[in-house]
Amino acid sequence: MKIVVTGATGFLGREVVLSALRRGHQVIALGGTRLPVIEGAQQALVLNLTDEIKLEALLLEEFPQAIINCAALATIDGCAQNPESADKINHFLPRQLAQLAFHVGAKIIHFSTDMVFNGETGRYQHTDMPSPLHLYGKTKAAGEVAVLKYGREHAAVIRTTLLNGNSPKGDRGLHERLFRDWAAGRPTLLFTDEIRQPVSLTNLADVAIELCERPNLSGVYHWAGADALSRHEMGVRIAQHFGLDAAKFVTASLRSSAPNLGIRPRDLSLQLHPLAGKLRTPVQAFDEQLGELRVPRGYEDWYEKETGRKVVRLLEKGIDY
Ligand SMILES: NC(=O)c1ccc[n+]([C@@H]2O[C@H](COP(=O)([O-])OP(=O)(O)OC[C@H]3O[C@@H](n4cnc5c(N)ncnc54)[C@H](OP(=O)(O)O)[C@@H]3O)[C@@H](O)[C@H]2O)c1
Repeated sequence: MKIVVTGATGFLGREVVLSALRRGHQVIALGGTRLPVIEGAQQALVLNLTDEIKLEALLLEEFPQAIINCAALATIDGCAQNPESADKINHFLPRQLAQLAFHVGAKIIHFSTDMVFNGETGRYQHTDMPSPLHLYGKTKAAGEVAVLKYGREHAAVIRTTLLNGNSPKGDRGLHERLFRDWAAGRPTLLFTDEIRQPVSLTNLADVAIELCERPNLSGVYHWAGADALSRHEMGVRIAQHFGLDAAKFVTASLRSSAPNLGIRPRDLSLQLHPLAGKLRTPVQAFDEQLGELRVPRGYEDWYEKETGRKVVRLLEKGIDY
């Protein structure tokens, strides 16, 4: 299958390209400002996706069977600082991609976020009404509606959550951000009363590709890991997994004790029915996700000194990730 992946230089997009290649698909990988460097991708291009004319020309030229949209302005702060771009990239771009997908008869898979909910109740079902607290969630919720409206039976939206995995530079994953504090000698303050349901990056990428391969699955779906955990529990289990002293590196805290918390949803746990029952890709428990994590690039020496364990260093080549 010929698949166009947008946002292929991003944390998730890169992994989606790798998953597609592993499963024998032909991939056109699009970066926004950087060229995706991924061995095996049939084409890698830089394209500003807000250039509607160039985007249309590319898709009409390539006529892909699937488009996976991983391009986004994917942070709360980034959207607040640049509301116009947030609307363009998180709302209007998905709409145009869905229109073009419908036109060329391609499946469109679009990633959305648990941040479309306000976090008051948790255990959200895929049929629950979005209730976003900030612009990021609002623009992502608008993007979902546009994709489903214009992509129709060709469209699947995956609402997902905190990504747990390894990034090429060792700076994006859940554990990688903790290592940054720990190696700097800072224990991390983590809330015991804020709940998320982290998902494995590779597992989520596999879900996107399986959805391309299963044309009968369309609509809004939730995908995450099996376990809803407090941020504190995640930190403790990550430290323990790496043989680090959790009592030294993780400090329990309450949301009420953080004066500058801003607006943050409290409980974004998701119910994974009905997608979990339909896919061959399994839902992964947090313990299984931990098994995939590496000591982040750049922290090997610190880690070896701290634990006495030896780290196997990987080659710096795209396909190794
Ligand atoms: N990260 C998470 O924990 C998380 C949690 C829940 C949901 N999600 C969702 O998952 C998806 C991917 O998130 P991510 O964390 O992988 O994002 P990311 O790492 O920030 O990547 C964003 C990608 O979008 C591209 N992009 C942005 N503006 C563009 C433009 N105008 N033209 C072309 N490309 C553009 C960027 O390209 P360049 O960098 O080359 O400019 C980059 O490849 C998003 O839909 C996000 O809402 C993420």
